[in-house]
Amino acid sequence: MSGKNISGKELSALEKSKIAEKVKRLNSEGIYPKLSVIIVGENPASQSYVRGKHKDCAECGIISENIALPESVSQDELLSEIDRLNGDETVDGILVQLPLPRHIDEYSVINRISPEKDVDGFTAVNVGSLYLGKDCFTPCTPQGCIDLLDFAGVEIRGKKAVVIGRSNIVGKPVAQLLLQRNATVTVCHSKTKNLAEITKKADIIIVAIGKLGFLTGDMISDGAVIVDVGINRGRDGKLHGDADYETCIEKVSKITPVPGGVGLMTRVNLLKNTVKSAENRAKNA
Ligand code: GUN
Repeated sequence: MSGKNISGKELSALEKSKIAEKVKRLNSEGIYPKLSVIIVGENPASQSYVRGKHKDCAECGIISENIALPESVSQDELLSEIDRLNGDETVDGILVQLPLPRHIDEYSVINRISPEKDVDGFTAVNVGSLYLGKDCFTPCTPQGCIDLLDFAGVEIRGKKAVVIGRSNIVGKPVAQLLLQRNATVTVCHSKTKNLAEITKKADIIIVAIGKLGFLTGDMISDGAVIVDVGINRGRDGKLHGDADYETCIEKVSKITPVPGGVGLMTRVNLLKNTVKSAENRAKNA
């Protein structure tokens, strides 16, 4: 790793080689880790994410299957498919790609996934375990933020961490993970008043608000560390984060770039969770 950028590319390559080794070991014991991905409809962004997941699995020797259901699928049909996968002993991980069409209740669908196969860490059981500090599948993006901080040697304990964004997928769980690591955590969101006053005092800022260039250099202190979760398409056609890289890079001690930062770690952690589930299967065999 060089300069101020925390390289998700470097860390994900390291992690992927470790995962591939683990998969080989499991294979030698007759366990073949497998991820089943359900995608509903033809959202191009979702299709592209799902293709990436299958490619990652193939690179690490994880079996993956794609279950593409039409936009018109009923909730009951989708739930039956999940029941079938829950009962299939060869399946270690089940992922239902979000968002789902409006006629389907996302909460019911996600919570139909057996918590033992919930490699996204989205079920109420896994979320509850995370909050109680119990062993669970940690959600992939929040865990990726922590992994990148650790990789860069950033101490979390005792630091002032500010999370911008309070989504169930990123903001809330990453705040929990930071708390578990003994940071003092403030969660900010769209209704927060005087946001810059708060961010200026932060040692670590996790920005996950989904607005291109939202966090600017004048909102941070010298030496701050930024973890940028945003993935926004700019007018230049390129991907940009929620932090305004040009103004923030002058002041930060470390920053995760977009692309090449958190996104890659989200993908790695899905693989890690799938292998963890397969290891649990091996233990219980
Ligand atoms: N859609 C966008 N990101 C994700 C993710 O991490 N998991 C699932 N299941 N759907 C998503």
